[in-house]
Amino acid sequence: MIDVLLGLQWGDEGKGKIVDYLAAKYDIIARFQGGPNAGHTLYVDGQKVVLRTIPSGVFQSHCLNLIGNGVVIDPVSLQAELTQLVSIRPDVLERLFVSQKAHLILPTHRALDAASEAAKGVDKIGSTLKGIGPAYMDKTGRNGLRVGDVLNKDFDKKYEQLKQKHVQMLRQYNYEVNWQEWEAEFFESIKYLRSLQIVNAEYWLDAHIKNGKKILAEGAQGSMLDIDYGTYPFVTSSNTIASGVCNGLGVAPSRIGEVYGISKAYCTRVGSGPFPTELDNEVGEALRKAGNEFGAVTGRSRRCGWIDLVALRYTVMLSGVTQIILTKADVLDGFKELYAGVAYTIEGQETNEFPFDICGTDLSPVYKQFDGWEQPISECNSYETLPESFKKYCNFVENYLGTRIAYISNGTGRDQLLITPQ
Ligand code: IMP
Ligand code: MG
Repeated sequence: MIDVLLGLQWGDEGKGKIVDYLAAKYDIIARFQGGPNAGHTLYVDGQKVVLRTIPSGVFQSHCLNLIGNGVVIDPVSLQAELTQLVSIRPDVLERLFVSQKAHLILPTHRALDAASEAAKGVDKIGSTLKGIGPAYMDKTGRNGLRVGDVLNKDFDKKYEQLKQKHVQMLRQYNYEVNWQEWEAEFFESIKYLRSLQIVNAEYWLDAHIKNGKKILAEGAQGSMLDIDYGTYPFVTSSNTIASGVCNGLGVAPSRIGEVYGISKAYCTRVGSGPFPTELDNEVGEALRKAGNEFGAVTGRSRRCGWIDLVALRYTVMLSGVTQIILTKADVLDGFKELYAGVAYTIEGQETNEFPFDICGTDLSPVYKQFDGWEQPISECNSYETLPESFKKYCNFVENYLGTRIAYISNGTGRDQLLITPQ
């Protein structure tokens, strides 16, 4: 069976820490979408590590790690990440497998990302500029280069053809990006990529499933950034919800077991686009400070707001979430009162449904108020010792979503994860 873990909001829900924890129970961790736009932060022996393309199972020495076909790989970024990891865990390379069908991010994809964002001006998506969108466009446009291609003799020729196409596109943008400087390191990293364990991943996984191995699919970004169901066009370019696991790893829907959905106890978003419960005021600022809400990949400060249960119920539904993991609960310590968005008012009408065109509508959230607490959550070491008013908040969230909160994360430490009673 394959269990799934994914973010239910706009990303940065704390997936890295949770996968690292859950990995103890799994034999294989597999990434199924996204690319180096992801930044999964883990603390290993007190040292902060940010994973971009590598699955978060690398620090568990019994875990194999797979980069699936749904991922877009920037070989330069992958090499840099692996070089750092090898110095911490020398056996990483033996435990890493890469799908031959994963698509490659070229230097010109990164250039196109920058040029396209610049051309959008004030309407820019706020992309991480890692070349993700242009690489997925070439995938669906049937022009892309895949990992398996690097083992073929005509790789350089194929690269040249695609590059020429990009050069033409770049000319039309009339925006200078010095991607030529990135070409030498790209070819160096292709050599490195050839030395990794490149596999026919769908067969590889199938064999492991038949052998009774336990697999966890690790999502990146968040459900509200899904290309189909997110706040389009302010989204990423892949399917971040549970259905993405089937396409991104080549596994059948009947193989999916538990679906862990991660949500912060509040809400954040990095980049542009709608965010109904955003607090563009001193409360939002206080959340940013308490939660240290600055992007792991870009360093940008994240927009902060209260938990949005309308959006959460939507994403729980889309992925068939079976267990919720609530993270960064300790960040709410010190707030005298807190709120949860429970409905939206659109043109005088109240609704619980996430609307089609959230960008163009005059929308205001309806809030439910909760009391804060005195005793710091970060110091609690069991569910029982949590403040009563926080438990009330959790019960309300569970009832609203119709799904159990199975874990509560109350700090960055590996041991700061409370299991709720069944
Ligand atoms: P892109 O995927 O880099 O093109 O970015 C598209 C949008 O998704 C932007 O608003 C980014 O800030 C956001 N985004 C992409 N990856 C992540 C992530 O891992 N965490 C949070 N936001 C992300
Ligand atoms: Mg992140």
